[in-house]
Amino acid sequence: MPIFFWDDRYSIGYTKIDTHHKRLTELLNKVYDYFVWEFPLTKVEHALEELAEYAAYHFACEEQWIAQTPYQQSDLHKKEQGEFYIRLNEIEKTLSKMGMVSSLAPLLDLINCFMQHIAVTDHSYHRHLAAKSRDESI
Ligand SMILES: [Fe+2]
Ligand SMILES: [Fe+2]
Repeated sequence: MPIFFWDDRYSIGYTKIDTHHKRLTELLNKVYDYFVWEFPLTKVEHALEELAEYAAYHFACEEQWIAQTPYQQSDLHKKEQGEFYIRLNEIEKTLSKMGMVSSLAPLLDLINCFMQHIAVTDHSYHRHLAAKSRDESI
């Protein structure tokens, strides 16, 4: 059962990025399910790898998008995305060291970090870009 459901309040209003966020939500929920249902280690590791690869793809797309226009908060945006990787790497390291899921807390922390990033930081840069394109059309 998913730990969190996509809600249109998370939508930033840019279809491509919203589609990425929905996919990341699915992948995080998949990892959560594998943790909770104690799937075999190789399956859990594979789900984490799938999440890391898609996150890398998505973060690169956003960075490219943001680089198209000066944005004061771009360092904060990059820092938060880096923190996502740090948390994810810690989960992978602990899993490989213990050979099993020992706690759900780091994964819940990662999910919370992702939701916060979308709800605050991604919304913020989208508002910035929307305002800029509005200004340019005047
Ligand atoms: Fe982002
Ligand atoms: Fe994002």
